[in-house]
Amino acid sequence: MRILVTGGAGYVGSHIVRRLLEGGAAPVVLDDLSLGHLQALSGAPLVQADFADERALDELLGAGDVEFIVHMAALCEVGESMRDPAEYYRTNLTRSLALLEAARRHALRGVVFSSSAAVYGEPERVPIDEDHPQRPTNAYGETKLAFERALTWYQRAYGLSFVALRYFNAAGAHPDGDLGEDHAVESHLIPQLLRATCADAEPMPVFGCDYPTRDGTCVRDYVHVVDLAEAHVLALDRMREERTVGEAFNLGNGSGFSVREVIDVVERVVGVRPRTRDAPRRAGDPATLVASSARAASRLGWRPRYPQLEAIVGSAWEWHRRHPHGYAS
Ligand code: UFG
Repeated sequence: MRILVTGGAGYVGSHIVRRLLEGGAAPVVLDDLSLGHLQALSGAPLVQADFADERALDELLGAGDVEFIVHMAALCEVGESMRDPAEYYRTNLTRSLALLEAARRHALRGVVFSSSAAVYGEPERVPIDEDHPQRPTNAYGETKLAFERALTWYQRAYGLSFVALRYFNAAGAHPDGDLGEDHAVESHLIPQLLRATCADAEPMPVFGCDYPTRDGTCVRDYVHVVDLAEAHVLALDRMREERTVGEAFNLGNGSGFSVREVIDVVERVVGVRPRTRDAPRRAGDPATLVASSARAASRLGWRPRYPQLEAIVGSAWEWHRRHPHGYAS
C-alpha cells in the first residue's frame, strides 16, 4: 500500500518521506513545488500538482492502493499569517478541506495531519498538554485548529481516522547532510541566526525583549525534524493497528529556550556570535510555548533521539555549512 504525502518536498515532509523509504514503505509525494524542492524527494515518486486538485486526487486515489494521507502541505509562518490571513485560510483550511473530501470519497483509512503548537495561544500553564485550552494568538494557529476540528467531525461521522501532530518548533537537519531547511524567504530563528554568524550579515532582529520571561525574549521548545518524522511513522502504525483513531499529540522536548539562550547555543556550536539587534515584538507571538509530550510517549511510544538543543543546532549548522544556498548549492 502507498502513503500519499502532500508537501513531501518541503522541510518536514522530505524528512518523513526519507524515513518512510528507509522503513520499506511506499510514499508518493503530491507537491506543486511552489515551496518544496525536487532535490529533497530521496527518489520517491512525485505527482506535481496542487494538493487540492480534484482530478489529480481522483487519479491518485482511484487506483485503491493508497490507505493513508500524511498532510504536510501548508503555509507555516506566524508573521505572514498576521499580514495575509486570507491566504492562510485558503491553503490551510479551504484547500485542505478539498483534500479531506477526496479522502472521504475514496474511503481512505486515515490522515496524519501536520498541526502546530500555535493552536494553543498564550499558555495558562507550562508545559502545555493536549487538554490545554486552545485560543490561538495568530491566524496560522486558527487555521490549524479549524482543520483539526474538521478532522474530528469526519472521524465521528465517516470513520476516517486521524492523528494530529502538534509540532512545537521544528529545527535541525538530517544527519546524512543532504536534507535540511530551505525556505525562499527564511523567517525561522535558528537558520536566521546561523546566517547572522557571517561577517557581512545584517544583524538579526530579536523580536521583543519585554516578554514576561526570564530574559524578556520569547521561549520556545525546539524539536529535531528527524524526531518529528519518526512520530509520523508511529502515527501511521497506530492507525493501521486500530480500527478508528482520532487523537492529537504534542511533539516537543519539554525544555524551553529563550531567543537569547538560542543565540548563546549558536555561538557555542559555530564558534562565532551571531549579529543581532533588539527589535519590537512580532505580532502574533506568544511569550512561551513548551510542550508536555507525555501522551506521545505513552500512546505512540515516541522517544526523541536528539532532544539536546546543541545537537539540533549542530545538525542545522552542518546543513547550512554544506548548503549555504540551500538545495541550489
Ligand atoms: N525570532 C526572532 N527573530 C527572528 C525570527 C524569530 O526574534 O528573526 C523569534 C520569534 O519572535 C520567536 C522565536 O524566535 O519568539 C521563534 O520564532 P520562529 O519564527 O522560528 O518560530 P515560531 O515560534 O514563530 O513558529 C514556529 C513555526 C510555527 C509553529 C510554532 C510553534 O513556524 O509553524 O513554531 O511554536 F506553529
